[in-house]
Amino acid sequence: MADYATHHFTAASRYTVSVDYDRRLYAHDIEASIAHARMLGRQGIVSEADAEAIVGGLGDVRREIEAGGFDWRDDLEDLHMNIEARLHELIGEPAARLHTARSRNDQVATVTRMYVRDAIAETIAGLRRLQDALVSVAEAHREAIMPGYTHMQRAQPVLFAHHLLAYFEMFDRDAERFSETAARTNVLPLGAGALAGVPYPIDREWVAGELGFDGLSANSMDAVADRDYIVEFLADAAICMMHCSRLAEELVLWSSTEFGYVRLGSEWVTGSSIMPQKRNPDFAELARGKTGRVYGSLVALLTVLKGLPLAYNRDLQEDKEGLFDTVDTLGATLDAFCGMLGSIEVDEARMEEAAQDSALLATDMADYLVGKGVAFRDAHAAVSALSEAASARGVGLGELSLDELRERSPAFDADVKDLTARASVAARDVEGGTAPSRVADALAQARKRLGAAHG
Ligand code: ARG
Repeated sequence: MADYATHHFTAASRYTVSVDYDRRLYAHDIEASIAHARMLGRQGIVSEADAEAIVGGLGDVRREIEAGGFDWRDDLEDLHMNIEARLHELIGEPAARLHTARSRNDQVATVTRMYVRDAIAETIAGLRRLQDALVSVAEAHREAIMPGYTHMQRAQPVLFAHHLLAYFEMFDRDAERFSETAARTNVLPLGAGALAGVPYPIDREWVAGELGFDGLSANSMDAVADRDYIVEFLADAAICMMHCSRLAEELVLWSSTEFGYVRLGSEWVTGSSIMPQKRNPDFAELARGKTGRVYGSLVALLTVLKGLPLAYNRDLQEDKEGLFDTVDTLGATLDAFCGMLGSIEVDEARMEEAAQDSALLATDMADYLVGKGVAFRDAHAAVSALSEAASARGVGLGELSLDELRERSPAFDADVKDLTARASVAARDVEGGTAPSRVADALAQARKRLGAAHG
């Protein structure tokens, strides 16, 4: 009987064991082995009868794993050896032929690529749901106006929908990045063998077709040695988490008493054990916090890879835990945002009130003077002096009299009182601007893009 144990098992050798976490790849591993076995049979590298026995046995192993009855063994190190050893117990001698024309090095590279490819499809689906949730909130509050901020200071009025659609764009680019990574990920390593290729008449194209790969790795050493597609996935995830974290920060601020712009549904906040008034935005805070571990996984893998000579080195086994943790963390984060946004109550009146702060119209006052023929820099200086004078007196810019305005610039006229937050927003009528008609177009476009992405 074939011996599948990779080494004499001692307490110290737990150090090399990966089956605790890589068993998560079991379905992909079995699928890849089934395709490989079928190819071996078709090519006459093993007999058709052996190939059939292997395929049948692998199906049984899968059923055992899914039923929860599989006995995962540490002394077999990883999931690949566990599955093959169990196959041997079930079908005997033909199992020992499965590993013909393949190595664990091209096997694990294949299986991990399949896993990443599928994880990307799920991640993109999660991103689309989040984009959908953002558009839905924006559509429900098309008219709501709020202060836009720079340096976290009130800057100019914007539509709330415009602010939300900024995140729609960020998540759209994230989805695009993931799909570009998927395209580079989806090439088949099998056939690379341990590192040099295999001395059998295999049919890589056929295996690629069976497993849904779009192409074949062009160099056997590259195929088993690199994990850049995982680095890319982690980098895409890190960027996406960064975007999530910024949105989380907005939700934390907006739901505070100081802002009071939104209220998150009670499932998305928690109380305090001693302060009964609290509605802590824990999901948003944890999303912000979990961004750190995703960055960590990216840096960890880059560090694992940087000193490795070609081709396979066991260090590469360290690619998996950070990958799995990132898939879980990002998926759960996207879901949490969908939930939070779905539950959000928006206090339009409160936002509108904040947007009425006349300080927000300072730029419009300068633009008004430009409209009367004043050079922009001079107009800026005049309004800046007026703002200072107003704040020195403890009044808003809008409370200065026309005479006071004229002291700084004779170009001011009675129609300066027409400057309002609504007028300010409406004036930003450029592509990508916050004018209501532009935002309405952007919302329609967003819906269309989502439809196309789903369709
Ligand atoms: N568990 C290993 C990994 O994840 C599989 C490949 C092992 N190959 C070897 N030659 N020891 O990288």
